[in-house]
Amino acid sequence: MSIFGSKQKSAKKIFPAKNIGGQIQVSPDKSISHRALIFTSLANGNSCIKNFLNAEDTLNTLKVMRKMGVSIERKRDTSLYVRGKGRYGFSEPSGKLYFGNSGTGMRLMTGILAAQRFSSVLTGDKSLSGRPMKRIIEPLTRMGANIMAKDNQFPPMKIKPAEEIKGISYDSPIASAQVKSCILLAGLYSEKPTVVSEPYKSRDHTERMMDYFEIPVEVNKNRVKIQGGKNWPGRDITIPGDFSSAAFFITAALIFENSSLEIKNVNLNPTRKGFINILKKMGGGIEIKNERQSCNEPVGDITVKGSKLKGVSLSAKDIPGVIDEIPLISLLASQADGKTIIEGAGELRKKETDRLHAISCGLQDMGQAVTENIDSLVINGRPHSLKGARVKSHSDHRMAMMFAIAALKAKGETEIDNTECIKTSFPGFFNILDEIKKC
Ligand code: S3P
Repeated sequence: MSIFGSKQKSAKKIFPAKNIGGQIQVSPDKSISHRALIFTSLANGNSCIKNFLNAEDTLNTLKVMRKMGVSIERKRDTSLYVRGKGRYGFSEPSGKLYFGNSGTGMRLMTGILAAQRFSSVLTGDKSLSGRPMKRIIEPLTRMGANIMAKDNQFPPMKIKPAEEIKGISYDSPIASAQVKSCILLAGLYSEKPTVVSEPYKSRDHTERMMDYFEIPVEVNKNRVKIQGGKNWPGRDITIPGDFSSAAFFITAALIFENSSLEIKNVNLNPTRKGFINILKKMGGGIEIKNERQSCNEPVGDITVKGSKLKGVSLSAKDIPGVIDEIPLISLLASQADGKTIIEGAGELRKKETDRLHAISCGLQDMGQAVTENIDSLVINGRPHSLKGARVKSHSDHRMAMMFAIAALKAKGETEIDNTECIKTSFPGFFNILDEIKKC
């Protein structure tokens, strides 16, 4: 029986490793997989999505598309053949549309569904049902959408057909690719332009994919403009490896002295690889090789060597580029000499769980002092001092994976209460970990 009691079915024990090494590929990119499904399903014509991410989040978006009449056939396990239905070709779904744990799936599809000529109800799991939707409901309502939500801000959301979707110029108060993409996707249904500006540039996969599908899009620093009212043809698309999944193994390699790891075929979009810049500041031995373009996205191979790390300071402008890597930066900070300060990171409290709190609790359980403030963390690194403990993932995939990496470097055994949640983004995580872990 687990030390958490018999109900903790997916609790997992992790033992320390002696080293990390090898050559791996990580799972396909989650953000790009969601978007590829959306753009191919709405295209006029057929497409093949190669290397689609087979994980719960993206499979929920796939089921939503099928529920609205899109024919999607799976071949050779990771290729999807999608028969696009055109911008207005979806049929009214017979039941609720379930997005599981995925904020990306729900927020992006709200932009599309707000412009359909039928009603829909969008639901999610417990975590998603507590995540803020006002950030998309407000701008979409300004565009003419008709959306009702629990307490006006949480899922489930009910969307009724709009009389008309109008283009707007929206100054987003937060740097969020989910908000930006939701508005731009709704803007595809307006006859007038839609403009979104954000305080700092968030990931730009939607803009790149619009361009890839021949949808006119203008990007000027943190401002994106689309014309709207256009249809687009089907087109084959290949999904690269997920940088945020690679980041777990990059971290594992960095914290072991004599490690050497190569990760092939990873997305290196500048709006996603802020982690590399931060690691370089910390003294991390990381190199990019073989950089190339694939379907409008930069891709390359990453090599990492164990490194002596030093603390680093991050402010609000750095956060969008490492939004999903803050748990890993916190772990690295615990293994670095000196102080790390992560400021302007309040958005982390709005993720699958309150990640600032989950990081702080879990690392403290493992013996690392963390100062947690409203939107910041301060960590005074003490290399080699983590100890095995019982830690909580808070059912958040990225927290579970971060603690699994921390456990490799801890003295003694670590037990993570729920690792089942890893299936939402990276079902192959433990297989790869076993491959690179030297005991
Ligand atoms: C995502 C955007 C980010 C990120 C999430 C995926 C996307 O969220 O945290 O994992 O695919 O657009 P926000 O845009 O809300 O910061």
